[in-house]
Amino acid sequence: MDIGLENRNENQSDTTTIQLHRGEPDETMIPFDLISKASQEILTDEKGKHERTYWAYAPDEGNMELRHHIVNLLRQTSAISTLSYENIFITNGISAILDQICTMFLRAGDTILVECPTYLYALQIFRDHHLHIISYTVDDDGLIIDSKFINEVLERAKPKMIYLVPTFQNPAGFTMSHHRREQLVQLSLKYHFLILADEAYHFLDYEKKDENDNEQNDEKLIEHPKSFASYHAAGTVIALHSFSKILTPALRLGFVCASHEHVIAMGHYGLIHSGGGANPFISGIVDRILAEGSLKQFIDEKLCIEYGKRMRVLYNELMRTFGEKYISCRRPSGGYFLWVKFNDTTVDCDQLLSIARKYGVTFKSGRLFAHDEEAKAQLANCLRLCFAIVDCEQLREGCARLKQAFEEYKNITL
Ligand SMILES: Cc1ncc(COP(=O)(O)O)c(C=O)c1O
Repeated sequence: MDIGLENRNENQSDTTTIQLHRGEPDETMIPFDLISKASQEILTDEKGKHERTYWAYAPDEGNMELRHHIVNLLRQTSAISTLSYENIFITNGISAILDQICTMFLRAGDTILVECPTYLYALQIFRDHHLHIISYTVDDDGLIIDSKFINEVLERAKPKMIYLVPTFQNPAGFTMSHHRREQLVQLSLKYHFLILADEAYHFLDYEKKDENDNEQNDEKLIEHPKSFASYHAAGTVIALHSFSKILTPALRLGFVCASHEHVIAMGHYGLIHSGGGANPFISGIVDRILAEGSLKQFIDEKLCIEYGKRMRVLYNELMRTFGEKYISCRRPSGGYFLWVKFNDTTVDCDQLLSIARKYGVTFKSGRLFAHDEEAKAQLANCLRLCFAIVDCEQLREGCARLKQAFEEYKNITL
């Protein structure tokens, strides 16, 4: 079965294909200057040289100063004021903590509920733990919470955990509404399940209101729901964050926001305790970047401006070249991805992909984001495009190639 586990570096030397399947930043968006300055500092200044937590085993929950700085970052960027450093646990990124949480809180055969579609590599982690995966439908407001969900999922299937990508979802680009978040937290207390909120794209908000700017045209700007981190006191919510999309994935650093009890439990995990917390040296570098105070500015002025531009270019280009006659596409207001659905339900995006490769463009086909055959069949006419990986010119060219591939596909099959 193709589960989409391609060799990530396989096509590195292929510079002619426009690789819109990769969910990664391109090199021009990595803040080498910030990382280089912070690294130099901890290697050379007196405080850095004598800070044992950079060089030896760190506290189990992670570098204390970094945890304080993360609280400040969330206060400044996301208006969350209830968190303390005791609610923050440093991780080796979202992937690592997903695996740790499955080991700590679940057993083989336990039921986990995911969105349909969902982040494909999380599915692989859940499969590695032999979990019983079920999925439920989403709409523009995220996971649908209706009587069927309560009766058939919560009462009958009794999931121990619900995994969500609530904001600028990978792959479908929606953001879960505030009302649904509140409902789900209430239900988690009643039905005793954990909410794992994967907030990998939380900071990449291209249409957010700037509270300090009165000149902004308020009608166009959207007040996005707060991070699930703001529900830490419920005791049933674990919000997963990462530096992968705001600095670079190679740092392998992230953090969890959760109840203090969950933070302590995660620190007691054998792997973490034996290794002295997650990634102490890199934690030192990221701590210096946060202490310096320019990360928020980098996110707002570089990432959000450029990625926002790329998102609009690809969306407009897709709608211009294909049009509503052929596709529907949700216009996200953040994140990395556009989710395209062909109106003709017989379109098979796996077949389209093999033609698209000939034309020099790639995407991820919808089936990869579903866990079972029924869900795969529902997503067969969908595809995901990443607009973060190449510049606007390449996005326009990629879209033109996709249209050529679709024309050939139509001639052969439709
Ligand atoms: C929804 C989602 N979660 C997690 C990850 C991986 O995060 P990390 O690099 O922190 O392991 C990604 C990366 O693409 C993602 O899209």
